[in-house]
Amino acid sequence: MSEDLNIITGSKEQQYQSLLPQIEALISYEHDPVANLGNVAAALKEQFGWLWVGFYIVRGGELVLGPFQGPVACTRIQHGRGVCGTAWAQARTLLVPDVEAFPGHIACSSASRSEVVVPVIKDGNVIAVLDADSSSLAAFDDTDALWLGKICSLLAPKT
Ligand code: SME
Repeated sequence: MSEDLNIITGSKEQQYQSLLPQIEALISYEHDPVANLGNVAAALKEQFGWLWVGFYIVRGGELVLGPFQGPVACTRIQHGRGVCGTAWAQARTLLVPDVEAFPGHIACSSASRSEVVVPVIKDGNVIAVLDADSSSLAAFDDTDALWLGKICSLLAPKT
């Protein structure tokens, strides 16, 4: 059976609408977190071509690098540090249109210009964050926040 994604062009909304059921199908019969986080990172990278997309997982009181697609990245982020650690501490999605304007932003890649971080929340606790980086300024908006939130909700019971 082919696992190929159906990659579409169109508005961002249309792209997410096409991608969401495919992600649902990809993770529905798999319970291993690494397998599911890996495929979701790959699906988002394939559809949107962002510079970097992946997960940091809460482990031992810090964020540890999880499955991702893109350039090598920092492996550990402390609670409240950078965009990821702040999204974790505040348990909310952060849209950063210009990473240089975000105090404490952690520059894993010098090519990153904007970023969105979405928490994965399970039983009221942040268990991971989804991080996406773009080489363009202001690449992410409320549409990304909404749909990436839906994807993280699908992932929460599987992580
Ligand atoms: N920029 C993030 C660090 C992770 S990388 O972008 C992959 C931050 O400030 O938390």
